Amino acid sequence: MSAGPSRRSILSAAGGFAGAGVLARPLDFLRERRRTRGLVRHAAIGVGGMGAADLEQLASHGAMDVVALCDVDSAHLAAAAKLFPNARAVRDWRELFRNDAPVFDSVNATIPDHMHAPVMLAALRAGKHVYGQKPLTRTVAEARAVARAARRAGSVTQMGIQNHSNAHYSAALELFRAGHIGRVHAVHVWSDRPAGWWPQGVERASGADPVPDTLAWNLWLGVAPERPYKKDLYHPFSWRGFADFGTGAQGDMGCHLMDPALWFLGLAAPLSIRSDGPPPNDESYPLWSRVRYEFPPNALTTRGPLPLTWHDGGKAPKQELEELAAGPVDPNACLFFGEHGALLASPYLPPRLLPAEKFAAVPIPAGTAVNHWHQYVDAVRGKGTTSAPFEYAAFLTEVALLGNVALRFPHETLAWDAKRMRFPERPEADWYLSSPVRKGWDFQES
Ligand SMILES: NC(=O)c1ccc[n+]([C@@H]2O[C@H](COP(=O)([O-])OP(=O)(O)OC[C@H]3O[C@@H](n4cnc5c(N)ncnc54)[C@H](O)[C@@H]3O)[C@@H](O)[C@H]2O)c1
Repeated sequence: MSAGPSRRSILSAAGGFAGAGVLARPLDFLRERRRTRGLVRHAAIGVGGMGAADLEQLASHGAMDVVALCDVDSAHLAAAAKLFPNARAVRDWRELFRNDAPVFDSVNATIPDHMHAPVMLAALRAGKHVYGQKPLTRTVAEARAVARAARRAGSVTQMGIQNHSNAHYSAALELFRAGHIGRVHAVHVWSDRPAGWWPQGVERASGADPVPDTLAWNLWLGVAPERPYKKDLYHPFSWRGFADFGTGAQGDMGCHLMDPALWFLGLAAPLSIRSDGPPPNDESYPLWSRVRYEFPPNALTTRGPLPLTWHDGGKAPKQELEELAAGPVDPNACLFFGEHGALLASPYLPPRLLPAEKFAAVPIPAGTAVNHWHQYVDAVRGKGTTSAPFEYAAFLTEVALLGNVALRFPHETLAWDAKRMRFPERPEADWYLSSPVRKGWDFQES
């Protein structure tokens, strides 16, 4: 992660909103008035990769009117423009907000993590509703700034953790609430990523490749420090493991997989975080990690602070799974250990109660699936609420990103003061809660 004098500019940018005289808590009738009763005029920012999927899902809602498309890669933009020939197509999102803000009510930001905060802050500041991808942001300070801006704007927001709305998590929650495993004394969450999907554990690549004609590389870099383009290394998709752009395996998958733990248990901010894996280098996240959190106990937990251990890079709580005779398990999952047994929740498979023999008579519910994108569009139209609003999304993102901070201080238990957003006993770690912004890209200016 790069150093720089302007690392606090995100926070000052967010503070600027309050200074601009925006009401801290909009009155309910104003919030209500801001709902869109008819068609939702939508601008899609980032239309390749997951952006194509978000656009397809959002546009499949009958009340969606896609009026603008934005992508720094003109090849991706052209592909989306074929599907929405009447939409205005631009490469620079700042242009969209400068010139076209009155013609859209809603945006989705499905772009690399380092650009989530600037785009979402601009959108919220312009009073738009926002469907934002996970992780909400690349740093903890950004997540808090985005949540604050959403609160002030009174916008409808939803983070793209579509698994939150799927049948498997809903079924797992039903089993949890039925009390089969009792109060929880430990949680393990694991992911197989990066699993060769994208580079991690690598140093800065040398040299430069010619920038493809279709790509506006400077716009792609955005707030990140300047560096030469390298073919297939960052754009598309592979930026995830690089500290200047992405959030590594935990940032990428943590919001999907730690979600059941924070949600089912209603956890408050962690008390401490400790990494026992290898440290990252300055360029990229390590090939694997293991991070242990301690959360304050509550009525659903037992035995003092609740330990939650995150494993990635193919690590998993092998001994615990063996003791439960779990057999083959999903390589991306969340396991709750309770007084009476364990509950395995995965976004991709039905939940399981373990040991299986003990719970053989318990039927696994089918769960209820909701279209996560349509839920957002409905909420924008005043019907219902979203299940992953930025208030929750920012907290979930913060917990995942604190793991990335801990990686920098291996084998040290870092006490966390969530209220003051700092590590009281290790001030050096505070530096990793925010990030520099490239000159000319200060959020205030966009
Ligand atoms: N919810 C999920 O299951 C899921 C799955 C995949 C990705 N994601 C998230 O979606 C986001 C995008 O990931 P991806 O895999 O699609 O990345 P990607 O690099 O494959 O695609 C990003 C798209 O955005 C465009 N883009 C990049 N910078 C831009 C900018 N500043 N302005 C406008 N367009 C820009 C790119 O050209 C590309 O079309 C990430 O936050 C990622 O975590 C979520």
